[in-house]
Amino acid sequence: MSARIENLYLPARPTEVRRGKGWSTRFAFVLAAAGSAVGLGNVWKFPYIAGEHGGGAFVLVYLACVMLIGLPILIAEIVLGRRGGSSPIHGLRALASREGRSPNWRYLGWLGVAGTFLILSFYSVVAGWSIAYLWYAVSGQFGAAAADSAASAGALFAGLKASPATMLACHALAMAATVLVVARGIRNGLERAVRWMVPGLFVLLVALVIYAAVATGEFGRAAAFMFRPDFSALSWDAVLVALGHAFFTLSVGMTAMMAYGSHLEKKVSVAKASVAIAGLDTLVALLACLAVFPIVFANGLQTEIGPGLLFVTMPIAFGQMPGGEFAGMLFFLFLGLAALTSTISLLEPTVEHLEQRAGWNRRRAAALSGLAIWIVGIGSVLAFNLWSGFTPFGKNLFDLLDFVTANLMLPIGGLLIAIFAGWGLSRASLAEELGLGESPVFRLWRFVLRYVAVPGVVLVLVYNLL
Ligand code: TRP
Repeated sequence: MSARIENLYLPARPTEVRRGKGWSTRFAFVLAAAGSAVGLGNVWKFPYIAGEHGGGAFVLVYLACVMLIGLPILIAEIVLGRRGGSSPIHGLRALASREGRSPNWRYLGWLGVAGTFLILSFYSVVAGWSIAYLWYAVSGQFGAAAADSAASAGALFAGLKASPATMLACHALAMAATVLVVARGIRNGLERAVRWMVPGLFVLLVALVIYAAVATGEFGRAAAFMFRPDFSALSWDAVLVALGHAFFTLSVGMTAMMAYGSHLEKKVSVAKASVAIAGLDTLVALLACLAVFPIVFANGLQTEIGPGLLFVTMPIAFGQMPGGEFAGMLFFLFLGLAALTSTISLLEPTVEHLEQRAGWNRRRAAALSGLAIWIVGIGSVLAFNLWSGFTPFGKNLFDLLDFVTANLMLPIGGLLIAIFAGWGLSRASLAEELGLGESPVFRLWRFVLRYVAVPGVVLVLVYNLL
């Protein structure tokens, strides 16, 4: 896979982008953006929301959302970032003024900073779970977890949820790793980190799918669950979740990709890169499901068990397979690293804003915003134990933050990005930035952005809010 992408994006000579600190090669950008997209959203979240919403029909709606809404807006977001050429808030304001639009477009940048800040606060808690599970693998706890499969694997996860101290420590480790990478900057930090993490996770997932298929013999049932749509099980609520997840999984709608795009040199084709990012991202999500669901069916687990799904199923597989402690260690290591390539993109918009606005250096901006996000994340940690009874709007804090960011802020941010790119920028600016001229691909993209993505998001939002 990576070899194929590499062919498309021959390494270019390092060029001066944003004071010479941009991505060193085209491939580095694609890898970083794919690293941002591929993360806990694919491996942890997608299987459990697909399980909660009945599989097939949900998966189909999700795929449609990725192709018709997520991908066109991903292209738009990177285009806005590169054309703005600065941190998201500042870049949007500069771009709006150049195009003769209202300076209020900068508030889209503020929405992005607020959204990435909030997402990172609970995302880092789940990244912490992978760190805890890495420890469980190293200390040989999966064998016992698999002994009478479902019950004891569930107990391992329940034990973690019941311990605020462990979760807080792991959440702290995850934030610290993120801060360290971001503090080092684009080239020395972000770029070096992503080069090997994404390919590694991919290889391991393929191996797990094969193992799950062979060892459980339930591949057929898992595939049927995933790909045989039963539309009677689909609600408008599920459509909103699918739409929100399309944004979440592609890292679209919250200016993270805008920040990454602002460091991209002009020669790179945004459209091709975006297709590669979305394709790889979707593949990883489907692979994760095909690794998880055979184990669910073989052990009589429920598909609807929610956020614990991955952390309950995988120890069963690792506990039973020969060499499972080692495989488990690799899996949770790579999952943690895949989470890291996403958390760094979630911290980047806030850091770039603080650098520009407050004049702080990168290290200070990363450390202080990381600390603030860690503190906000404590609420999500306690939602699983001490504060589990605190449920405003019928959801605990963790679920509430997830709902508000993924199902409201991301679609709204994505919608505004689509409107600004689709109508705010002149056709000539867009054509120039995409580098495709007035080609059919350019016209198709702009058409889908204006007349499919925008009404699509509006329809789903309106239906759910009414
Ligand atoms: N896409 C990541 C995942 O699927 C999460 C993520 C990273 C994200 N950066 C983002 C989500 C920016 C929204 C906005 O795990």
